[in-house]
Amino acid sequence: MPAASGQAGPATPAPFPQVRAVARKAAHSPTLSIHERVASRRARGLDTVHFGFGQSPFPVPESVQEALRAHSGDNHYLPTQGLPALRERAARYLRQRFRHDAHADRVLIGPGSKELLYHLLLVLEGDLILPAPSWVSYAPQASLAGKRLVWVRTDPDRGWRLDAEGLEDACARSRSRQKILILNSPCNPTGSVLSTDELRDIATVARRHNVIVVADEIYAEIVFGRRRCASIARFCPERCVVTNGLSKGFSAGGYRLGVMLLPPDMADLMPHLVSIASETYSCVAAPVQHAACVAFAMGDEVQRAVRDAAAVHSMTGEFLWRAFTQAGLRCARPQGAFYLFPDFSPWRTHLFRRGIRADESLCADLLERTGVAVLPGRAFGVSAAELAVRVATVDYDGAVVLAGLRQHRPGTPAARRAFVHHHAPRLTDGVARMREYIARICQR
Ligand SMILES: Cc1ncc(COP(=O)(O)O)c(C=O)c1O
Repeated sequence: MPAASGQAGPATPAPFPQVRAVARKAAHSPTLSIHERVASRRARGLDTVHFGFGQSPFPVPESVQEALRAHSGDNHYLPTQGLPALRERAARYLRQRFRHDAHADRVLIGPGSKELLYHLLLVLEGDLILPAPSWVSYAPQASLAGKRLVWVRTDPDRGWRLDAEGLEDACARSRSRQKILILNSPCNPTGSVLSTDELRDIATVARRHNVIVVADEIYAEIVFGRRRCASIARFCPERCVVTNGLSKGFSAGGYRLGVMLLPPDMADLMPHLVSIASETYSCVAAPVQHAACVAFAMGDEVQRAVRDAAAVHSMTGEFLWRAFTQAGLRCARPQGAFYLFPDFSPWRTHLFRRGIRADESLCADLLERTGVAVLPGRAFGVSAAELAVRVATVDYDGAVVLAGLRQHRPGTPAARRAFVHHHAPRLTDGVARMREYIARICQR
């Protein structure tokens, strides 16, 4: 019988399985997705230059691999906070290398710094302040952790660098008493490295507005020239949590090992972080923790591997920056990490004529017409209309390039360009295709 008017009709069946809103909002990480798309294109025989994924291409130092092999039989769970010997080593590494006030008791080992950052967001109260652009995973993590986000706009003509005024403005817009800022220097996606003056000014504002600063220093080993990476922890030690790990400087992203260092004033966070870890990942794989002991001990072989890898990143970054600016893109000169963040705004009118008004359609068009994969700036929090793209500079065979470097160290800028051209031909190829693309859009 039909339901009488005013009565509820047959209930529409509930979707099965029902998914929580927070999970429905979560998308696959853009960096991992582009990696899969490029792999699938290559499997179909489509020639593709991969400027999309930031993974160190170098071999893991031999002594670290050896330690992993030697401990492959270790099948016991380790303490959730991390192997005590590893925490000691990591603390010593952070003290000696970056002058952090590090002690093993305040070191937490996790399956990548990404997971540790997420757990910290779960533990801490307060809005999350992020400079735009920022690494792709911070904002989705904030959303998963139920945090309100406050973006800070930065100026492309000043290399998209966070400054004290920007932070001041974000603090005024935040509604929470305590706030959190994630500061990533050297920076993914821009390659910028903040100077001590910039860090000091940002730290002053952080103190004034009760901002906890999370210094994501995963690229700290990859700074170009003779500079050492300065840390904001120097200027606001009481409120600065530092993260680092094996993924970038030690070329061991797939090992999945990250480190978090709490300052003495925030040591009370450790039991909360350890509780969450104990209910989620339990501990990092035992063989990997033993391998990490060798990495953080920084013996001669490891030191050399880390230094040489950074030297190559410097050459490739400089090479691509020069090529992009010569092609008429706006692009800040990278000072570290392995990324650039050029934008096509100088070609805006030409792109508009082709119906390209946003970075995502630009990336899709670029991939389809040239086979060059890059990520849209929007994934990093900047407006799609900026036509910015994130370029990772690592599409080459790291073992081959390292061997080349050890045979002959190029001394002059021209020799360094020739070195990249010779040993990392896909970078030259990618640049040539992008130039051709620009030439083509200009013809219409
Ligand atoms: C800025 C930044 N932070 C953190 C991470 C995560 O590193 P891990 O491999 O330690 O999780 C990455 C990796 O791409 C990154 O680019």
